[in-house]
Order: sequence, then C-alpha cells, then structure tokens
Amino acid sequence: MERQIYGNLVDSLRGLEDGKEHLKAAHLGNALSQIKLNLPPHSWAGLYLVNDGQLVLGPFQGTPACEEIAFGKGVVGACYEKRATIMVEDVTTFPGYICCDASAKSEICIPVFKDKEVIAILDIDRPDLHDFSNEKEEFEAIAKLLENWL
Ligand code: SME
Repeated sequence: MERQIYGNLVDSLRGLEDGKEHLKAAHLGNALSQIKLNLPPHSWAGLYLVNDGQLVLGPFQGTPACEEIAFGKGVVGACYEKRATIMVEDVTTFPGYICCDASAKSEICIPVFKDKEVIAILDIDRPDLHDFSNEKEEFEAIAKLLENWL
C-alpha cells in the first residue's frame, strides 16, 4: 500500500473512533470496506472471530467465504496459533491452505488482540502474487484499530 493511501486509510479509520457502542458493527463494516477499497479489485478483506473454540467468519467485504476454521488450520488458524502475522506471497506454497475463492493468490493474516488474548484474525486476500513485507507494520496498525469495535 502506498504511504499516502495508508495514511488516508488510517485517518478514515480513526474518524470512526467515536466510542459509540451502538455503531460498533457499522464501524467494523465500514472499516473493512475502506480496507478493501485500498486494495486491488477482487481482493477480500474480513475478520475471523474467535468463537467457542474456533474461528468464525465475521464482517467481511468480498466474495462468500468459509464460515468456520479450526485453530491451527489454514493461514487463518495458523495465525491464531502463532499469535503473529503470517504473510503468504503465493498461497499454493502454504501447507494446508484453505481455498475459499480460486482467484486469491496471496494472503496476509494479522492477529487482533484484546487483553493479550487473540480475539480475531484480520484476513486479506489479493488476486495477485504479492510480497506483503513492506506493509506488515501498516496492516498490524490497522488490525489494532479494529480492536476498538470488537
Ligand atoms: N485462505 C484462508 C481461508 C479464509 S479465506 O482466505 C477468506 C486460510 O487458508 O485460512
């Protein structure tokens, strides 16, 4: 993500930090929409929420996706277990990758923490092979902002 685009995205997400309890779900939806709008067409951006011992699809923008992912499974479940960002430049190289949409080619998963517990995974898929390493810290900062509405 270009620096200017990232700056605009963070500004627009900060603009949603109003502490209004009844707008939390609306803000999450809008935040994910903003993230997707700053990615190439046909990208996917969403949250998997920790729920009853597994990861369950939460708010997202993009094509329909897998609804339940077990801890340790796929990139999302591996991210939960590792408690750290996982970047996959080419999804065909990731052992146990879960394919929800054949157009996804690269993926980054970032844990969202609350009180030191992982409560959700921010998952982003792109339709191109992509090295996320220059954007890792930016996406981690975005994931931290999302915590406000979870
Ligand atoms: N590819 C993910 C599954 C979720 S979708 O990308 C939306 C995985 O391997 O965990």
